[in-house]
Amino acid sequence: MQTRRQDSGRCSTGKADRTITSLRNTFSTSNHACHTMNQIDLKSRAAIVTGGARGIGQAIATRLLQSGASVALWDRDEAALVAAKAELSALGPVHTAAVDLTDLAAVEKAAESTAAAFGRIDILVNNAGIAGTNSKTWEADPADWRRVIDINLNGPFYCCHAVIPHMLKGGYGRIVNIASIAGKEGNPNAAHYSASKAAVIALTKSLGKELATAGVVVNCVTPAVIETDILKQLTQQHIDYMLSKIPMNRFGQKEEAAALVAWLCSEDCSFTTGAVFDLSGGRATY
Ligand SMILES: NC(=O)c1ccc[n+]([C@@H]2O[C@H](COP(=O)([O-])OP(=O)(O)OC[C@H]3O[C@@H](n4cnc5c(N)ncnc54)[C@H](O)[C@@H]3O)[C@@H](O)[C@H]2O)c1
Repeated sequence: MQTRRQDSGRCSTGKADRTITSLRNTFSTSNHACHTMNQIDLKSRAAIVTGGARGIGQAIATRLLQSGASVALWDRDEAALVAAKAELSALGPVHTAAVDLTDLAAVEKAAESTAAAFGRIDILVNNAGIAGTNSKTWEADPADWRRVIDINLNGPFYCCHAVIPHMLKGGYGRIVNIASIAGKEGNPNAAHYSASKAAVIALTKSLGKELATAGVVVNCVTPAVIETDILKQLTQQHIDYMLSKIPMNRFGQKEEAAALVAWLCSEDCSFTTGAVFDLSGGRATY
């Protein structure tokens, strides 16, 4: 049974910056569900969280560690990795790999170092991603398009390619891909990002079917705007657009994403694969 209550897991409201504070007045944090956490049981599980050095990835890593897992943080930002490891190590075993996820050989090396550190790999959270530059599609820089597709789509493919054989060896696995509501709806001025996330949804569905009898389930989540550093890559106009589409009239918090992902990483998620989970404050209509 995995629904013990725990009183220590208060939500934080995240750190404000210029872009974010200008929007924060639009909702009251007192309306936001800052509540006690359900305890998920991930004891003896070893997890990888890509892009785990900050933002949603760090919040997911925190929640997995609090649930008893060992966690490998994979990120290209070495300084942020060192800081995240220093912050998270009090919660449980943390391994780090400085890796650019667009480099398959580097990803394979990170998988080997993680398997050597923990003796197994049970969980993969494909979280790392970038927003790219906002522009009309016909005015977009093709190099920007390729960079977004490379990190947001090829990165998760390379990680699955390198990690799934380890899961098959153990006959067990949980894969969670972080897509976006943009992948369902298509945000204007973000065609590269929207297309990459739609592809991640399709990757999830294909892979879920391929692994359906192997003990490995594959699901994805589709957040609307969540308050992290990624917003610094976007224009204010684009952030305003995304916020205006959310019926709850507020940003999501990274801890809310982590709560859903932690359940998807658990044994309780056992008859669900190739599925898409909403995290959009009511924006999604399907
Ligand atoms: N924040 C949002 O509003 C939002 C909404 C929907 C989906 N998402 C998705 O959630 C995921 C996490 O976003 P976030 O808001 O925490 O972003 P963030 O910018 O705060 O963190 C992303 C992390 O990924 C790492 N990263 C980027 N490219 C990498 C690469 N090539 N190799 C290794 N590491 C790399 C960065 O160094 C960074 O630590 C992304 O996939 C994003 O598209 C975010």
